Amino acid sequence: MTIHIGAAPGDIAETVLMPGDPYRAKWAAERYLQDCRLVNEVRGMLGYTGTWRGKPVTIHGSGMGMPSLSIYANELIRDYGARTLVRIGSCGAMQDHIELRDVIVAMTASAVSTPSRGIFREMNFAPCADWGLLRAAVAAAEARGARVHVGGIHSSDVFYDERPDLGEQLSRHGVLAVEMEAAELYTVAARHGARALAVLTVSDHLITHAALPSEDRERGFGEMVEIALEAALG
Ligand code: ADE
Repeated sequence: MTIHIGAAPGDIAETVLMPGDPYRAKWAAERYLQDCRLVNEVRGMLGYTGTWRGKPVTIHGSGMGMPSLSIYANELIRDYGARTLVRIGSCGAMQDHIELRDVIVAMTASAVSTPSRGIFREMNFAPCADWGLLRAAVAAAEARGARVHVGGIHSSDVFYDERPDLGEQLSRHGVLAVEMEAAELYTVAARHGARALAVLTVSDHLITHAALPSEDRERGFGEMVEIALEAALG
């Protein structure tokens, strides 16, 4: 057991899918895993372990934002031996050619700051995805006929952004979308020699201000789970 995870040693698989919402972890585990069981519920952050096509996998919530994700990613990797971590979540599109429900596979994640920022001092570290996972996720998304975009995203500390000029500069530099966790996931994984990737669906659009109704979010979420499982274990 760790401070934030009540799982017994051996209860967490080497492959972990990480949605932000713990209830999404429950939904995905019950829908996609065989023999799944609850392994963590400390602070309501649900984690489930089961198998997918006979291979062990854990689906564990990360919470919202990089400080929360950082706690779980650190403990999953350092204390439970997780080696492959795939974030599955939603994002806001930052380019005209991207539509609601499109899939974004994040090659890099820019951030003003991450919980790891202090380590690098004057250096602007470039958090980047694991290439093998990224390639496999793109192949899985294309095989399903999904509209998929691969490139840089922005991991923001704020959902209600009071500084639109920053988003405009990032859009101008080709950043595809904004979410709130991937940069720290990539950084923590890199620090410990683990593999990480973020697969996201577009839930809202920063340029058109369109947003998905909640029932569509569930369908998009299912597609991401399948892409993430294929990429990590297929
Ligand atoms: N996740 C989904 N949409 C987002 C947005 N617009 N900003 C930050 N995170 C998000």
